[in-house]
Amino acid sequence: MTKAILGVSAFYHDSAAALIVDGEIVAAAHEERFTRKKHDASFPSNACAYVLDEGGLTVSDLAAVAFYDKPYIKFERLLETYHAYAPKGLRSFLSAMPVWIKEKLLTRQILKAELAELGGDNPLLLFPEHHLSHAASAFYPSPFEEAAILTIDGVGEWATTTIGRGDGGQIEIFRELEFPHSLGLLYSAFTYYCGFKVNSGEYKLMGLSPYGAPDGERTRKFESAIRDELVDIRPDGSILLNMTYFNYATGLTMCHDDRWETLFGLPPRPRESELTQPYMDLALAIQQVTEDIVLKLAVTARELSGSERLVMAGGVALNCVANGKLKRKGVFKDIWIQPAAGDAGGALGAALAAWYIWTDGAKRPARQGDRMRGALLGPEYGAPDIERAARKYGAPNRRYTDYDTLCKDVARLLTEGRVVGWFQGRMEYGPRALGARSILGDPRHPEMQKRLNLKIKHREGFRPFAPSALEEDSPEYFDLEGPSPYMLVVAPVKESHRNPEPEGYEKLPLLERLYHVPSDVPAITHVDYSARVQTVNRETNERYWLLIQAFKELTGCSMIINTSFNVRGEPIVCTPEDAYRCFMRTEMDYLVMGDFLFEKSLQPPLKEASDWREEFELD
Ligand SMILES: [Fe+2]
Repeated sequence: MTKAILGVSAFYHDSAAALIVDGEIVAAAHEERFTRKKHDASFPSNACAYVLDEGGLTVSDLAAVAFYDKPYIKFERLLETYHAYAPKGLRSFLSAMPVWIKEKLLTRQILKAELAELGGDNPLLLFPEHHLSHAASAFYPSPFEEAAILTIDGVGEWATTTIGRGDGGQIEIFRELEFPHSLGLLYSAFTYYCGFKVNSGEYKLMGLSPYGAPDGERTRKFESAIRDELVDIRPDGSILLNMTYFNYATGLTMCHDDRWETLFGLPPRPRESELTQPYMDLALAIQQVTEDIVLKLAVTARELSGSERLVMAGGVALNCVANGKLKRKGVFKDIWIQPAAGDAGGALGAALAAWYIWTDGAKRPARQGDRMRGALLGPEYGAPDIERAARKYGAPNRRYTDYDTLCKDVARLLTEGRVVGWFQGRMEYGPRALGARSILGDPRHPEMQKRLNLKIKHREGFRPFAPSALEEDSPEYFDLEGPSPYMLVVAPVKESHRNPEPEGYEKLPLLERLYHVPSDVPAITHVDYSARVQTVNRETNERYWLLIQAFKELTGCSMIINTSFNVRGEPIVCTPEDAYRCFMRTEMDYLVMGDFLFEKSLQPPLKEASDWREEFELD
């Protein structure tokens, strides 16, 4: 008899659902993609309904539902923390309690009620620990039979970092670092201080760090201040934060602004204000400290596990600059990182943990290789769905009968500097678009980075784009060993592709530095000559691979720009309708969905939202 387990993460940020049947991953998706609310934290009803549908199951067919943490232990942590710091934090305590009691402490009841809404009658509920969920999401889908496991995030119940080992179906945790000492929260405090949103702006802070002056006096001073005052880093990578500088344990904010201002001689940067050099230097300083801690933890994981391979998950594992450096240090022979490394991935990890505990770790599928299927685990929409959306919007299009011709046409459009929305197959699980819901451009185009940032994505001009390169050709362009299918590793662009820097380049203001053409693929080359690489494998992602191959045949260049199919502040598109609306609201030139090509200049204007509601009601 088959056993199906539904994994759920919810009520913090990035809710998601995942379905596994007999240990095999069937489907996984973020709730935000369905509700169109970025980082939606509510119960993932839509994602649950979708993954069950994909498996042809109902809630009644499930052997269990696994939630990604233990709410009671989390609550205990909260109470103990307030108790330890009392009477400090009373205001925050009073404001946090009603939410806790309503949403988190009553998780079991809420889950039961929500699952009943989905048609289930009292399924078995399981609550694996938060970091065990991360560890399971990192190890079980990895291609390794045994590996060291490193999970690093903000906080779960108590743990903020764990080191363990996976072998066959078993996971053993050796060491745990506990709240409030957390690398994730330390990085988030800097995210906040540099004017970005905590829990989602960490990526921007990392993207800003290469603009810092690596040999600058100020960067050095900032780094010393962090090491001397904020965090004590032990040789094994464990850390002790000086809590007199932080406010997250009991307060409603991340840190004590006044103390930080005295320490760094720099006020907190107001959101959306101009990005100046001191903040770039601060971003670089905390990035360097983070890399040092991650490296030390990895060395400890290597020693404790005796393994030559490492798997990682937890929000900090999304720091692809640190991942790239760790890879190049060669502590491990091979590293695999869960693409949904953040809390959304906890849904998959919880389900996998439940399955392996249940089967006593005995039945890990023997199939070799990465079990994530390229992270293409979300919903797919066929020709009838695309045609329906086209009819609804009166959208003229051309349907290709031959996929090769479509690829050749799209490749040619890209060489002409056109920006193309690309919608194919199953949607990605995890924060990155990997060629299923992507916006594409020509990486050789010197103006493409600015154009995409300002006119299409409506986001900060400094943020770089990532290349999708044919896996077999990527070593020609990047100093990168092995594949990087999930865009989680930053690697240097090879010297042979770089252009020399103009004199005084490092001292130029940020936006002026963007005028320098750093390489023969400038739109994907960061200011420090690095790139966040996605390698595309023909077997896992054939349609995308064929498109890049067509671009290569036309240009000799084996990569294209890949940025997620969304605008700033919105989740990645899910359905053909989402894709068409996003296409029409930006300056994208073409949209490809399945075998259909939509040209912007031929489209009728998009009606306003209120009109759509009317039309919808008439349907
Ligand atoms: Fe987490």
